[in-house]
Amino acid sequence: MTAQIIDGKAIAATLLDSIKLRIDARLNVNRRAPSLAVVLIGGDPASAIYVRNKRLACEKVGIKSLAYDLPSSTSEAELLMLIKQLNDDKTVDGILVQSPLPAHIKDEHIIEQISPDKDVDGFHPYNIGRLAVRQPTLRSCTPFGVIKLLQAANIPLMGLDAVVVGVSNHVGRPMALELLLAGCTVTSCHRHTKDLAKAIMQADLVIAAAGKPGLVKGEWIKPGAIVIDIGINRLADGSIAGDVDFNAAKERAAYITPVPGGVGPMTVATLMENTLLALELSEAA
Ligand code: GUN
Repeated sequence: MTAQIIDGKAIAATLLDSIKLRIDARLNVNRRAPSLAVVLIGGDPASAIYVRNKRLACEKVGIKSLAYDLPSSTSEAELLMLIKQLNDDKTVDGILVQSPLPAHIKDEHIIEQISPDKDVDGFHPYNIGRLAVRQPTLRSCTPFGVIKLLQAANIPLMGLDAVVVGVSNHVGRPMALELLLAGCTVTSCHRHTKDLAKAIMQADLVIAAAGKPGLVKGEWIKPGAIVIDIGINRLADGSIAGDVDFNAAKERAAYITPVPGGVGPMTVATLMENTLLALELSEAA
């Protein structure tokens, strides 16, 4: 079997088109465009690329993008002051602070201070909690993007045995909660998992989010399984690879996502949708 490659780039482009139509419809009745504040601290080259992609997507769909590019010497107190200012600004709908942050700033201190209504990354403990109790509001972009990718590919999730590799706060944990909400039987694997191969071999759906290139071997994939690769790893030669041994896995899987061009574009498109949703929810409140 050779897997069907799920084209995340094309599916994300369709989603962006639909978001643009919704925003154009607002403008036509004299309602304002959504706005997203994107905060980038320091000069990490990968973060600069991600942020550029997010700002380009804003431009494409008609979201007003506010850029806060700050030096790596920015203190936690200074960043918290900016967050407060953005929380209080009624013309700002979404706030995103690009991670990783410099070592002297604690990620969780910052995320907790972003108003949950403007937390378009879906990282705030309130929003993660809403997902956990089956009342999702603003949902973490990458996991929700994966769900939308699977829906767009017409892959039903109800009852599947799903394995998520990786338990990070931003991706692996909310991914497991999304799959539970979608009716999967979910196993979360991590560094203390005794037998990763055994867990993956029984999975109908494998979601790799460990950030380790080649961690998931092709021979572990159950024939006919669905393989979603969230990993984005830069190799020594400068190329980008996922967490899955793609060439071997695609010979066994029924569906597989490539890296790049799989999950990544869905994360950005979902961020755009969350920003529009944040504005719509604030108007409905
Ligand atoms: N760094 C890598 N991916 C992301 C993301 O989706 N959101 C934020 N805030 N930082 C990131």
